[in-house]
Amino acid sequence: MRATAIAQPNIALIKYWGKRDLELNLPAVGSISITLRDLFTEMQLELDEHLPADKLTVNGSVDETMLPRLSTCLDHVVGGGRVRASIVSRCNFPVAAGLASSASAFAATTVAAAHAAGKPLGVKALANLAGRSSGSAARSLYGGFAELENSDKKIIVSTLCESEQWPLTVVIAITETGPKAVGSTEAMEISRSTSPFYANWIDRQDNDLKTARNAILKRDFEQLAAIAEHNCLKMHSVMWASRPPIVNWNSATMRCLQTVRKLQGNGVGVFFTIDAGPQVKAICLPEHAHEVRAALAATEGVIDIMESGLGDGARLVEVS
Ligand code: PMV
Repeated sequence: MRATAIAQPNIALIKYWGKRDLELNLPAVGSISITLRDLFTEMQLELDEHLPADKLTVNGSVDETMLPRLSTCLDHVVGGGRVRASIVSRCNFPVAAGLASSASAFAATTVAAAHAAGKPLGVKALANLAGRSSGSAARSLYGGFAELENSDKKIIVSTLCESEQWPLTVVIAITETGPKAVGSTEAMEISRSTSPFYANWIDRQDNDLKTARNAILKRDFEQLAAIAEHNCLKMHSVMWASRPPIVNWNSATMRCLQTVRKLQGNGVGVFFTIDAGPQVKAICLPEHAHEVRAALAATEGVIDIMESGLGDGARLVEVS
C-alpha cells in the first residue's frame, strides 16, 4: 500500500527541553507551539514486500541520514515484523538546522504509515506515535496554537486557538545552514544530568505555560511576547550552563535579537524565539511582517529569510 502525507513544522513558544522517560520519549515538561503554514515536509511511503531494506530519498537524492529514526518510527506505527518501505521525502526548508524539520518529518511519516498499513488511527493516537520519534512531532499533528501536556504514560495535545482565530506571521532569519553538532535527545540528557539550572527550569514551566495559555486565549500579544522570550532565554540558559555547554548561537543570532529589540523600541509588534539551532524566529502581527522581514534581512550575517503564516495539522494527501 502507498500513502502520502504532508506536515508543517511547529515552533515552540513555551519550549520543551528534557525527557521524563527516555524509553517512551516522554517530555519532562509541557509545551505550547504554533504550527507553520508555508514550510512543509511531504512523505510518500510505499510498503513493499519485495524490498530487502527500507530506503529513503530526500528531495530527489538518496540520503540515509534520517533512515534509522524513520525505520524505528515505522516499527512503532506499522509493527515490528512489518514489510520494508520505500520513503520519498520532499521538504522546502533546510533540515536538521533548528527549523523543526524532525517534527514535520515524523508527523507526516506517522500519518502516511498508518494509512499505508490500513490502520485507521485517530489524531490522539497518531500524536502519541509521532511523539515517540520526536517530542515536538506530536504538536505538528495539530494546527494553530497547540499545547502538549504529559499525562502518565502518554501525551495529550490540544488546539488552544485555530490559526485563523489569531493569524500571526513568523519571519525566520537563517544564519547558518549546516546540520547541528549534537542531536536534541543527547543534548537534553546532558542538560538534565549537568545543568545547575535544570531543576528550576522544570519547576517553573507550569507557570510559564499558564501565562502563555492565558495570553493566547485573550489574544494578548504583549503578554505572549514577554513570556515566550523569557521561556526561550531560560531554556538557552539551561543549555549554556550544561557541561559540556550547548551553545547553538552564532554572532548573527545575537545581532538578530538586537534587531528585534530595536523594532520593539519603535512600537513594532514582534518577539523572538530560538530553538536548538542558530536561526531566529520573529513572531509578529501580520501588518508588521514587511518591516520585520526587511530589518532582519538587513542584519549582518543573515543569509536567508523565510516567512510563514500559521497553518493546519498533518494530513493525508493520497492513499492507494
Ligand atoms: O522534538 P525534539 O526532541 O527534537 O526537541 C525539540 C526541542 C526544541 O525544539 C528545542 C523545543 C521544542 O519544544 O520544540
